[in-house]
Amino acid sequence: MLPTSTLTLFFLAFFALFVASSPIVTPAPRDVFSPPVLYPRNGTIWRVGQRHNVTWDVSDAPASITNGMGMIVLVKNHIMVDLETPLAQGFNILLARHEVTVPKVEPGDDYQILVFGDSGNVGGKFTILA
Ligand SMILES: *[C@@H]1O[C@H](CO)[C@@H](O)[C@H](O)[C@H]1NC(C)=O
Ligand SMILES: *[C@@H]1O[C@H](CO)[C@@H](O)[C@H](O)[C@H]1NC(C)=O
Repeated sequence: MLPTSTLTLFFLAFFALFVASSPIVTPAPRDVFSPPVLYPRNGTIWRVGQRHNVTWDVSDAPASITNGMGMIVLVKNHIMVDLETPLAQGFNILLARHEVTVPKVEPGDDYQILVFGDSGNVGGKFTILA
């Protein structure tokens, strides 16, 4: 067993080392990007099987993005429809558009598109017809 004072010194030294090194290991600050959806907008009508470009605004994109990969998910009545099978994923979020195929879902006028960068934003309410 080491005397208590030696242990205390050891911990103090360890703590000092940790504090001294922490600014070096801190990653450069990166920004969160949650892009506003432009299309589909309120009142847009899509039909099952059609292809459409979902578009979003990248004018406020930060210079350094934490996650540059995007994902598009369909939302119905504020609930994500099948998050396991997004309409699209793995595309560059800075491209501001991505083509999707309207999935075979029940017709409704309470659909929204959710675009994820680091975090997500839903667009306006739109309609899907059979
Ligand atoms: C989506 O946008 C791309 C690039 O502008 C274009 O080539 C493509 O035809 C568009 N798709 C639809 C369904 O409009
Ligand atoms: C859609 O309309 C609702 C209410 O009519 C409004 O609150 C919302 O901001 C609109 N969304 C968009 C994306 O225009």
